[in-house]
Amino acid sequence: MKSAIYPGSFDPLTLGHLDIIKRASKMFDHLTVSVLDNKAKNALFSVEERVSILKEATKDLPNVSVDSFSGLLVDYAKQKDIHVSVRGLRAVTDFEYELQIAQTNRKLSDGSLDTVFLTTSLEYAYLSSSSVKEIAAFHGDISQLVPNFVVELVHDKYKDK
Ligand code: PNS
Repeated sequence: MKSAIYPGSFDPLTLGHLDIIKRASKMFDHLTVSVLDNKAKNALFSVEERVSILKEATKDLPNVSVDSFSGLLVDYAKQKDIHVSVRGLRAVTDFEYELQIAQTNRKLSDGSLDTVFLTTSLEYAYLSSSSVKEIAAFHGDISQLVPNFVVELVHDKYKDK
C-alpha cells in the first residue's frame, strides 16, 4: 500500500491546502494529513481545533486520515512507516524553503523520507494561512479563501480583537 503524509501548520486550513489534500488523496492509497504541534509558534487555532477542522473538511475522503505530531517529521514518518511527504508549491518563492526542508528530511532519514511536490492550482497560487489571518484581523472577506464552515471559526477568533 502506498501511503503519504501531508504535514503542515494548517493555521487555518485554506482552500489551497484542501486542493492539495484532494489531489494527493487520488495519488496514494492512503494520505495522513498531520498538524505540527509547534509550541514555539503562537497559533490562532489549537492543535485540537485544527485537527477537528481538518477532519470535518476531509470527512468525504475515505482514504484520508488526520493526525498531529511534534518533533521531527522524519521520526514521525518512521514511526508510521511512511516514506513520502507531500508539500504544495505555490510560487518560486516557496521553492528555496521547501527544497531545504525536503533535502534535510532525506538526509536525516538516510533517504527513507522523500518529498513529492504538487503545484498549487492557479486560483490558490497567492493564498496562504498568513494572508487569511491578516484579512480576518481587519474583518475582511475570507469566504473565497477557506472552506465555508471555517469562515465563521476564523472570524470568531478576532471578534473581540
Ligand atoms: O505549513 P508549514 O508551517 O509550512 O509546515 C512546515 C512543516 C510542518 C512541514 C515543517 O516545519 C516540519 O516538518 N516541521 C517539523 C520539524 C522538522 O522535521 N524539521 C526538520 C526539517 S527542516
